[in-house]
Amino acid sequence: MKQVLIERYGTPWEVARCAEVPDVGAPAADEVVFDVLAFPINPADMGFCRGTYRLRPPLPATPGAECVGRVTAVGAQIRHVKPGDLVINLQRENWAQKRKVKGDDAIPLPAGIDLRQAAMVRINPPTAALMLSDFVDLKGGDWVIQNVANSAVGRLVIVLAHQRGLRTVNVVRRPELAGELRQLGADLVLVDGDDLPARVARETGDAPIRLALDAIGGKATGRLCDCVASDATVVHYGSMSGQDPAVSRTNFAYRGVKLTGFMLGRFLARRNAQKIREIYADLGGQVMAGKLFAPVDTVYPIDKIEDALAHADKGGRNGKILVSPNGAI
Ligand SMILES: NC(=O)c1ccc[n+]([C@@H]2O[C@H](COP(=O)([O-])OP(=O)(O)OC[C@H]3O[C@@H](n4cnc5c(N)ncnc54)[C@H](OP(=O)(O)O)[C@@H]3O)[C@@H](O)[C@H]2O)c1
Repeated sequence: MKQVLIERYGTPWEVARCAEVPDVGAPAADEVVFDVLAFPINPADMGFCRGTYRLRPPLPATPGAECVGRVTAVGAQIRHVKPGDLVINLQRENWAQKRKVKGDDAIPLPAGIDLRQAAMVRINPPTAALMLSDFVDLKGGDWVIQNVANSAVGRLVIVLAHQRGLRTVNVVRRPELAGELRQLGADLVLVDGDDLPARVARETGDAPIRLALDAIGGKATGRLCDCVASDATVVHYGSMSGQDPAVSRTNFAYRGVKLTGFMLGRFLARRNAQKIREIYADLGGQVMAGKLFAPVDTVYPIDKIEDALAHADKGGRNGKILVSPNGAI
């Protein structure tokens, strides 16, 4: 079977290759085997290949934080999935044609769900949902501000916030995205820049913003801090700039703004297995109903992983880069 391997850390498309490796074999009593039907290339996967991600395992290593698969075999103790079912995997190393995992890590998805969308259910939808629920007790009409608003996470935040009657200020770096994001339910779309706080104040009528979501870092985090109300919470969950947040100390000392961080694994770990399955059942159902959607730019076969990675690194994409290891999509 084919599997992506990196033998050193560095430029993703220079260090990753598609290798021939032994089959995963039959499942033990508590295991599930599935064919990987599709996986996305996420910013965290790029960091993993570069060696800049928080996980830096000994090499060779296989990247891949998420995927969708179809179960081909289950061990004698497995009751919650059967051959033919679609699953997502709570564990990593998914850039391969097949995976063998512990039963508890295989989460079922509804039959008939769009496979491209299913490949992206594991990480970004719960990230958007939990960032909106776990930090600030927001009520209908409240404002939330976020940057990288046209990213997969950003678009999900727009839709989930709109469902709850929240209003969103969406900060982008490409003005041509405004119409698309408004159609998703965005209230305001503003291009990032030094005068962002003044424009946000003007456009919201000086409304107090109690939650900000930042995935850029550097001075962009500081600009969001300057936009929010005193005592508001700014959640740093990604660093597309590669920089640490740069925030004026005035925000902390004089205004009580709180800068904190989000990592999905940490917030899922606060819930039990039943609650986690419920979260994915809800999000999977919303994807199935077409309510949650992430655009896809291009799908590559697994043996073109270098091309897929180079493409994923380019700005200005019209959605995610996906890989189809078994030609299923
Ligand atoms: N903490 C967690 O648990 C968690 C979970 C999921 C995702 N994340 C993070 O969330 C962020 C978004 O992930 P995603 O999968 O939604 O991303 P994505 O769909 O691949 O989109 C990437 C976005 O980043 C923007 N971008 C790229 N480089 C930038 C820069 N230097 N300055 C400003 N914007 C830049 C792109 O803008 P253009 O379209 O204009 O190129 C695009 O909007 C990433 O940082 C990721 O690591 C964190």
